Amino acid sequence: MSLASCNDDASTGSDAAPLGGDAGDAACAPQPLAIVDDAGGDCSAFVELPCGVPPTATVDDCFPDLTSCASMCASSSLFYCLFGPTSCNLDAGILDAAVVVECVTCAGGGRRPRGLVEARILARTELGAHFARLAHLEAASVKAFCDLERWLAGTHAPLRLRRAARCAVADERRHARVMRGQAKRFGGEARRVRVRNVAPPTLVELLEDDAVEGCAGETFGALVATWQMVHARDVRVRAIMRRVAVDETRHAALAWEILRWGLVHITPAERERVRQKLTCALARIESSVPRMAAAARRETGLPNRAAAQRLATGLRLVAALELERAPRRGRCQSVAWTTHSEGGAASLGNARVRALAIRAARSR
Ligand SMILES: [Fe+2]
Ligand SMILES: [Fe+2]
Repeated sequence: MSLASCNDDASTGSDAAPLGGDAGDAACAPQPLAIVDDAGGDCSAFVELPCGVPPTATVDDCFPDLTSCASMCASSSLFYCLFGPTSCNLDAGILDAAVVVECVTCAGGGRRPRGLVEARILARTELGAHFARLAHLEAASVKAFCDLERWLAGTHAPLRLRRAARCAVADERRHARVMRGQAKRFGGEARRVRVRNVAPPTLVELLEDDAVEGCAGETFGALVATWQMVHARDVRVRAIMRRVAVDETRHAALAWEILRWGLVHITPAERERVRQKLTCALARIESSVPRMAAAARRETGLPNRAAAQRLATGLRLVAALELERAPRRGRCQSVAWTTHSEGGAASLGNARVRALAIRAARSR
């Protein structure tokens, strides 16, 4: 699937009706804007709403609800959206009739809960901002795994999956604590995690989230952490990433196992929807690696653009193999991250992620 098809398929990837749905409302339809945002990189696209905020949208601190985002952004690989600073600020609210919406489409290195509100970061240095963002994401992942455990119980998922989700809560709490410490060390701080109330997802929505946040986001996060534990110049960062890499690999293994379990229980059309979400999330996953000055990048050991591309290419290959092996009812087979126990998940998953990282390193 091409990246273009990921961005043009709102009608198939989203349940939300497009704004300006009939011909008479065409003048109010969202208009793509050619804005390049250095901070957002390839992760942000911008649209203008000529007639302003739709009356059906719920807006909280310049963040519209996710259903409205899906209509406004026309992207099936959307994470959240917000009104641009020229259109909305926290004191004055919505500023004008025509508003600009930023649509954020990248998966990150952690599992984001549904309804997550964008991080508010305070930092004196680039490294402080980086670790503050990580601390926010790790803290958000605590909520994501709490939700996941509860929602898995609601779908009568196997007990081992629910238990693994519960264990991941403790991992993410530890990660959040450690990243907060690093943020403080480098002069950064993240405000508290805020999550909007959302309805429990259907099984298909749960699998879509799992595909995007776990199979794409956390798996790529595990790969990047594995890379960092070798390449970070800062000794403390290297040691931290070693532990994080092991944990995140286990979380990645869990995501793939949930996906394999769930795909058996949905219809072929729904399965295709989940696959499309995953493919779109992986299409540009490398752009979720933050860009920073070379000196700061060396301290953190983050891969440069070329290395991130190699890691992402390896992940896309493995994911394609996984997706080729469509599950059949009563039979759930897999080439990678196959698990029979939680311990097995860690070792097999870790070996796979390490192999990908090493292959990427050798192909310089
Ligand atoms: Fe984490
Ligand atoms: Fe995680």
